[in-house]
Amino acid sequence: MYDNIVLIGFMGSGKTSVGKSLARQLYKDFMDVDSIIEAEQNSSITDLFEKKGEAYFRSLEQKCINELTQKTGQIIATGGGLPIYSSIPEKSLIINIDADFDVILDRLSAKERNKRPLLQDESRARALFDQRIDTYREQAHFSVDANQKIPVFIHLIYDFILDQRVL
Ligand code: S3P
Repeated sequence: MYDNIVLIGFMGSGKTSVGKSLARQLYKDFMDVDSIIEAEQNSSITDLFEKKGEAYFRSLEQKCINELTQKTGQIIATGGGLPIYSSIPEKSLIINIDADFDVILDRLSAKERNKRPLLQDESRARALFDQRIDTYREQAHFSVDANQKIPVFIHLIYDFILDQRVL
C-alpha cells in the first residue's frame, strides 16, 4: 500500500535520529534529504541559503524527494520546510515527529542550531513553528508525541508501522 516512510516535523524534532534508528530496526535504507542535497551541491545548507537563496533550496528539495521516491522500501527524513513548500509523493506513509518548540530548543546543541539558518532568531523560529505545526499534523498519517524520551516514541512509531503492514 505504501512505498516508503517519510518523516516530517519541525527543525530539530529528531527526524534524522529517528529515521536512522527505524531503518536499523526494520532493515531498510535510510535517506536524508538535507544530506543528499548537501552532498550533491557540495555545500552546507547554510551556504546554499546564503549564496543561492531559499527558493533555490526549496526547488532542490522537491526534486530530491521526487527522485528518492522512485525507489521503494526506504525510510526518508525530510527537512522541516519540505512538507510546507513541496508535495510529498503519494504512496508515502507520512509520520510527523511532533515535539513542542521548547522541547526542540532544549534538545539542540549550539552546534546543531548553528547549522540551521532559520533557527538563528528564536522569536522568528517560534513564529515559524506556530505557522507550520497544523500543516505537519494535517499531512501526516500519524503524528507521534515527541515530547517523550526518544526511545519511547520511536517504539510508538515502530508499532504503528508494523500495524500498517507497510514495506
Ligand atoms: C529547514 C529545515 C532544515 C533544513 C533547512 C530549512 C526548514 O532541516 O532543511 O535549514 O525550513 O525548516 P531540519 O528539519 O533537518 O533541521
